[in-house]
Order: sequence, then C-alpha cells, then structure tokens
Amino acid sequence: MSYPYQIKTAEAYEAAYERSVKDPEGFWAEVASSFLWRKRWDSVLEWNFSDPDVKWFKGAKLNITANCIDRHLGTLGNKPAIIWEPNDPEEHHRLITYRDLYQKVNQFANVLKNNGVQKGDRVCIYMGMVPELAIAVLACARIGAIHSVIFGGFSAQSIADRLKDAHAQTVITCDGAFRGNKEIPLKNVIDDALVQCDFVNKVIVLTRTHTPVSMIKGRDVWWDDEIRKIETLGLHDCPAVEMDAEDPLFILYTSGSTGKPKGVVHTCGGYMVYATYSFVNVFQYQPGDVHFCTADIGWITGHSYIVYGPLCAGATTLMFEGVPTWPDAGRFWDIVDEYKVNILYTAPTAIRSLMGYGLGPVQAHDLSSLRVLGSVGEPINEEAWQWLHENIGKGKCPIVDTWWQTETGGIMISNMAGVTPAKPSYATLPLPGIQPILVDENGNEITGNDVSGNLCIKHPWPSMIRTTYGDHERCRTNYFATYPDLYFTGDGCYRDENGNYRITGRVDDVLNVSGHRIGTAEVENAINMHAGVIESAVVGYPHDIKGQGIYAFVIFTNTHGDENLSRQDIMQTVARIIGPIAKPDKIQFVSGLPKTRSGKIMRRILRKIAENEPGQIGDTSTLLDPAVVEEIINNRI
Ligand code: PRX
Repeated sequence: MSYPYQIKTAEAYEAAYERSVKDPEGFWAEVASSFLWRKRWDSVLEWNFSDPDVKWFKGAKLNITANCIDRHLGTLGNKPAIIWEPNDPEEHHRLITYRDLYQKVNQFANVLKNNGVQKGDRVCIYMGMVPELAIAVLACARIGAIHSVIFGGFSAQSIADRLKDAHAQTVITCDGAFRGNKEIPLKNVIDDALVQCDFVNKVIVLTRTHTPVSMIKGRDVWWDDEIRKIETLGLHDCPAVEMDAEDPLFILYTSGSTGKPKGVVHTCGGYMVYATYSFVNVFQYQPGDVHFCTADIGWITGHSYIVYGPLCAGATTLMFEGVPTWPDAGRFWDIVDEYKVNILYTAPTAIRSLMGYGLGPVQAHDLSSLRVLGSVGEPINEEAWQWLHENIGKGKCPIVDTWWQTETGGIMISNMAGVTPAKPSYATLPLPGIQPILVDENGNEITGNDVSGNLCIKHPWPSMIRTTYGDHERCRTNYFATYPDLYFTGDGCYRDENGNYRITGRVDDVLNVSGHRIGTAEVENAINMHAGVIESAVVGYPHDIKGQGIYAFVIFTNTHGDENLSRQDIMQTVARIIGPIAKPDKIQFVSGLPKTRSGKIMRRILRKIAENEPGQIGDTSTLLDPAVVEEIINNRI
C-alpha cells in the first residue's frame, strides 16, 4: 500500500502545515481521497464551535471495516494483520492474516446480527487483550453498531453507570482475563453490574481463562456456540453496512472534572481519516513494519493505534495480552526481539517502571529491528526519555512524544519520526491541520514564543469529539464554553523560542495516574460513599513511577480505632465504586479541610501540601479556619 499523504521531509512538513491552515478543506479532501468511500462527500467541512456542530465529509458514505480489511485482501491477504502475544510466553502466539481477520470479523458480525444487534445499537465490550476484542470491535463497526469498550480495570459499578448512560443492551465479555500472575474474573464483574441493568438482554462470553462463570438462561451465550450456529446456518460474509461519515462509530468514556465520566463520541469518516493519517505520518510507517503499541484497547490509544489506524494503513499490529514486568522485566524486549518489532509505542510510566530493573533485562535481547519509539499519555520526563533513547533506541531511533486526548481521536502535537526534530520532554509541533493556540485565564491569545498558557485548538480537525453521548450540552460546557470559539484541552502548555510545544499537565481537576485519566471529583465521590467518611478532598502529587499519585485528605469518624484498617476500607470502597486503578496512594485523616468563607475547598493549598511544598502555600488569611492548614502540614504522610 502506498500513502500519498506521507510526509517525508521537514520541508514537506512545513508545506503541508501551511497548506492545511490556508486551505483546510482542500487539504483534507486530498488526504481523504486515498480512502475507500461508497459515495463522496457533498461538503468537506461545516462547523461552528458555539453549539458545537462539526461535520466532516458530510453526505459521504463508507464503512470503516472495508478500509481496515476488505481493501487489503487483494494485496495483503496473506500478511499478518494482527500478531497476538499471550500473557504467558509459554502459550502459543497467534498470527491473524488480513484474510483470517476478514473471515472472523464477518463471522462475528453475523453472530451479532443473529443476536438481534442492529445499526445504531450500543454494544459494550469488556474483555481482556485477546484478538477477539479487536474482532468484536470491528464486527460492531461492520454492522454499524456503536461500540463502547470498557477497560478491564473498571469495577461493576463503573460498568453499570456506563451501560445505563449508553443504554447498551448487548455486552461482549470473557470468562476472565490473564494479566501477569493475576486472573481477572471479567464475567463475574459483568454479572455484578447487570444486577442494576435489566435492559441488557444479551451477553456473549468468550472462553479465555476457563474460570467458572454463571450463565443465565436466555441472556448469556457462549461466543463459540454462537459461531457454530452461524456456520450451521451457512452464513459466511456479512456485508459492511453503509454508514454516513457522521454516524457514530464508537463511544469511549473518559473522566472529566465533574463526578461523572463522559461518553466521548467519535464518528466514522473523520476519525478514520485522521487516525490513519496520523499513524502513517507520526510513526513514518513503512509497508512491512511490525507496529507494537503497548496500550490496552480499553483506552483511545488502543482504538486509534492498535486497531483502526494501523489496520486502515494495512499494517501489522501487535497485540500483547500481558504486562511489562511478568514473568520478568524483559517481556517487552523479548517481544521486540521475537517479532522483529520496528515501531514501539508505549507510555512513560512503563518506561519508568522498567528503568528500575536496570539494564540486565534489556541486554539479553536483540533490539536492532527497532526504528521508531513513541511515548503517549503523560509528559515524558527527561530521564525516561534519555533512558529510552540510549538503551532501547541505541541512540539511533527517533522518539516521538505524542500529545493527544480521548477527545481528539488522534495524535495532535508530535514530532514525525526522523522527519521533524525531537526535543526531549517536548511534544514539539502540531500535525498538519491542527491549529493550537495558547490563551490566558480570560481567553486572550498569548502570541509569540517563550510563553505559557492554556492550550486550545482553534479550527476543527477530522477526528475531533462530536458530542458527549446523550448530553450535548455537557460537550459544549466542558470543551467549548470556557473560551468562546475554541476547543479547550484542559492542559497547560509552554511554547519555546522555536515554537515547540511542551505540555505541562492538566489545569483542571483531572489526574493522570500511570497514564490513566481520573477525575478528582470521581475519587472523592467514591471515598464519600464509605460510611465513616464525612468529607474528602483529592489532589495529585508527583509519583516516581506513576507520574501522578492520588493523595486523599479525609474527614473520618473512626469507628474501630484502627487507622490502617480504615484506610484499607476506603481503598476497598474506591475499588468497588470506580475500580482498582483509582485507589488512593495516600490517605491522610484530617479534622477539617481548608475552606474559604463561602465553603469552597482550597485545593491549591492541599496540592502544595501533597507536593511537600508547604513554603509555597501563600496567604491563608481568607480561610475559614487557617489553623487547620498547620495541622494538615504537620500530619502529612
Ligand atoms: O494531560 C494530557 C495527557 O493525557 C491527557 C489525555 O488523556 P486521555 O484522554 O486518557 O488520553 C491519553 C492518550 C492519548 C491529556 O490531556 N497527555 C497525553 N499525551 C501526552 C500528555 N501529556 C503530555 N505529553 C503527552 N505526550
């Protein structure tokens, strides 16, 4: 496959960028013409940011799976689309060619249809990192059902909230999932969630761990049995349903500064174009490359750069079921060596945790196949960047530091591997079509270089969020109301003397823990569910491995007198309400919280205490009870 839109030199980047700003519609129409459409668009872009109402490729008809699979059959049919590496290195890996993928996606799409799933229906997918997860995602897309993948680290309560919000009547899950030395009982978690969701009428269960599960008559069916039914019916192909470019493709829930996760909606046409365009350009994908993105498909990174981007580009994408440190800390390097991985896309938190094991696990492996390294999810600290550069890239692999968000659908600011220069801890320059600006608190643009501000985007790009599912007003107030006519990212940012962007972290109440996005309000709500808790406040603090840790200040009525047990009880509550990923790292019991006279918690003060910088707290005279600050400082954990 060739990519006419692939940028190969710094000059070509400059030219593409300039054109994309001067003539965005012409620019994107040209990129989009490399894709397979059943009908061309009537207009390239119609938009306003005040509703917001953004339509890319209006009137165009397509199915993204025809782009991901069908179009490759003639040329790449026997090439691996997915290489699957199991959790346990002793178990056999699987190679799924484009032809196999076609057959499996068609088959499972027929299973969905046979179980009553129709275009526009929402399907919740809660599975481990098995190939059937990618197959389920693509099968939904094939019949126009809207998938909503939920990461395996979320609890039954979180799943129930999401199922209700999306009103998903079908769930696809596994009996269990393997992750390192753990076995996660996914179907059990689903069963707990479904106690609250009697509108779910079908659960399709894939066997993976052979964990005993309860199967409810009339509701729960086995994946394999359903496939057999399809075979008995003689159903093979499943025609790809014609979708409008602006029909929803998927919902992905993400945390914001309010207590309730939002269902970010992406649509078929624009998402396809941008996920693929950014994949090919940022990683400088070359036909034949093996691309290994270590994210989970439960997050946007997995959607865009394990499934849709690579497959649309006809790439070989490697899916790994396990964790970087099991059975030992050489697992990634083992995989790179075994499959001759060319592109490795991972997260700073994984790098930092592997750094702690020294160079032994790295040296035992041949990493010479690597050509490009990528980082995503949080700012990469210079030490981790250098470690990756020297010890993994052996000084010769460009590192792309890719800044983007669930809402942006694809990489927004990043260098392009080997094409535009890298700068450690900088995402560097916007991709063509992306127009970042920095604004001050009042929304005034901060021009020039060597400046800091809040990062906004001033022109639509094809894979941008269209709405928050079921609540468009929420989308408007969250992203488009802070600063009129701008999309507000929630991130703070510095622009250096050469115009390179460096993301400095969230300016709202959203934490980034091991690259997972968690709202402080969500964690507080969960803590407050504990019977003994009167009030709580949650802030982030710097954590060596996770990037940010969760620090909770809690006013508690101690009933059994054992503080440590109470801490564990609170952790358990958070794990139940949100999931283990949101458990606080530190819980400090306090007698009061610093509040203004109007009752607002002064998080700025708590943040400084959590960061162990009490000297920077500043003026506390406006507080209702300034003495409480002293007490909290003295008892800091
Ligand atoms: O704060 C930014 C941070 O992660 C946030 C988006 O989180 P999420 O929607 O979960 O998506 C993560 C994967 C795309 C951003 O608002 N972030 C992401 N990438 C970077 C980053 N911060 C700094 N540098 C990055 N490369």
